[in-house]
Amino acid sequence: MPGQIHKWPAWPEYNTNNSTSQDQDFVDTKKAIIEEFGQENLQKAWIRVCEDLSSITDEIVEQGNKIIPICSAEQILENGFSSNDEERIKKTGCVIIRGVLPRTEAQELYTELHQYISDNQGTINAWPVETPSMYEIYDSPVQNTIRSHPRHLKLQKLLNGLWHDKSGETSSDPLIYYDGVRDRPPKQIFLGLGPHIDAGSLSRWAAPTYRKVYESIFSGHPEDHDAWNLEVRKDAVQDLFKAPSHSSVFRAFQGWTALTPSKAREGSILLYPNVATTVGYMLLRPFFNPPENDADIMDARKWSFDESGCHFPGTEKDQSQFLSRSSHPHLRFEECMMHVPEIQPGDTVWWHSDLCHAVDPEHEGTQNSSVAFIAAVPTTPMTKVYIKKQLADVLAGSQPSDTQGKVNETLLKGYRGHENFSDDARRAFGYYL
Ligand SMILES: [Fe+2]
Repeated sequence: MPGQIHKWPAWPEYNTNNSTSQDQDFVDTKKAIIEEFGQENLQKAWIRVCEDLSSITDEIVEQGNKIIPICSAEQILENGFSSNDEERIKKTGCVIIRGVLPRTEAQELYTELHQYISDNQGTINAWPVETPSMYEIYDSPVQNTIRSHPRHLKLQKLLNGLWHDKSGETSSDPLIYYDGVRDRPPKQIFLGLGPHIDAGSLSRWAAPTYRKVYESIFSGHPEDHDAWNLEVRKDAVQDLFKAPSHSSVFRAFQGWTALTPSKAREGSILLYPNVATTVGYMLLRPFFNPPENDADIMDARKWSFDESGCHFPGTEKDQSQFLSRSSHPHLRFEECMMHVPEIQPGDTVWWHSDLCHAVDPEHEGTQNSSVAFIAAVPTTPMTKVYIKKQLADVLAGSQPSDTQGKVNETLLKGYRGHENFSDDARRAFGYYL
């Protein structure tokens, strides 16, 4: 099956109690949800999501990574998403859009980025410490060239437009959220980002407005969950528990813009191509204990309701939400976690803020695998506040407050600021907020 993992990596499992079990925030959160929605509704929802996952996973296994929609930027930028594209993106929560930047342009940008990193070695930080590849630079010329590129901005707007909100308080006009870049050399194993979901771990359950996003799931009707509703989500606090791994800004899609080629086992990305049911399953999982007999594990009715225990599998307040084979068996991870197809410089990969994904643990290729993390961020009242501050910070030489970096990027060799920005780019960077 195309995209399937050949051998499951040594990613951590989350089926045993973790250190959070006695944490009062976990205890209070679980109690509050049971009080608000009731055991019966939670049980009904649990059985429904597990049953739905049975056919969803069958379809993923059958299709392999062909299930991930692939669009050509040429077509999308000209005509928008077709109804078929839209339907597939909404179901899988992800999309690859090829050729957003012309390939030669992306290759030149990579050369420039590589030079910038090398020129500023010793000043800019990178992690993991032993094998640096995630560079904590945010305001570099290459990043800004891509983010402000008219084709990229137009695509961000189209992606934001897949969400809906009737409140009139938001728009699909993109805002730029500063994130880092990756330049990963070959032959380094990286197990640090196994299957996980961004956008705020325990906050999903604990922050009242964020919990409201998933109300239909907790109310016993997970089939009604609308994963594309910005109306409630725009006000959700996703970093209730502040930590460097959390973004304070809602990202409609997190995105990769590739600067070099990458493919399976060569520093790529893996996606779990289903959004609405998977997030429902993940949210309900802390309320149920698996049956004693392993042979019964896939039978949702044999899981017991767990009122008192406070084990949230894979949830740590200061981390993204992690998932694993043993803690989340109905996801059939070994069969359904997919490498994306081969990516070329200038191609982009996008995934919904609730989508489970993982960084390729292997890089067996021969050249660096490099991407710029550029999200699609719609304009919302909460986001405007952050973006305005982000702009003031970076112009003053401070790295954005979400990043906790302490480097003055305006002093880096080759720094160019925001010269030659179009009016659209200035708007997206927050100049008119
Ligand atoms: Fe992530």
